[in-house]
Amino acid sequence: MSQKAKSRTHVNCTINGDEVDFLTTDSTSLLDALRDEVGLTGAKEGCGTGDCGACSILVDGRLNCSCLMLAPEAEGTEITTVEGLAEGDHLHPLQQTFLEGAALQCGVCTPGFLIAAKALLDENPDPTETEIRYGLAGNLCRCTGYDKIIRSVQEAAVQLKGA
Ligand code: FES
Ligand code: FES
Repeated sequence: MSQKAKSRTHVNCTINGDEVDFLTTDSTSLLDALRDEVGLTGAKEGCGTGDCGACSILVDGRLNCSCLMLAPEAEGTEITTVEGLAEGDHLHPLQQTFLEGAALQCGVCTPGFLIAAKALLDENPDPTETEIRYGLAGNLCRCTGYDKIIRSVQEAAVQLKGA
């Protein structure tokens, strides 16, 4: 193995409110680094090519596919993964409404939907159904048929407005 192939890059960033340091390589995806180096396995790899949204995270408040980012690009950023949505034992309203609304089956897509829905509601707290469908258009689900997901996001929006 060449020296270059062995070299490791140090990354410092904030993940779910905590300062985190990890070592990675220049060719490692942020998704793989989060899962393998940081131990946060909530973000999933569905496609690895930016098509399914299962790997969605927030980077500096913006929705990103972590499979399309290289890990060193996380340097100095603030990242939110699905593990950062709950506050202690209290689920985020989106997590609660997904559970109550049976908006998941196999669950592979769910972390990505939760993060994408949070990004949507952070920007637009009172979305129409069409806006929710457009907002979640980058996330694919093979199990639920989407309607339960949409209803759960609508209910979470109502709860967040009332909070
Ligand atoms: S795994 Fe990243 S978009 Fe599918
Ligand atoms: S619940 Fe299985 S892919 Fe969405």
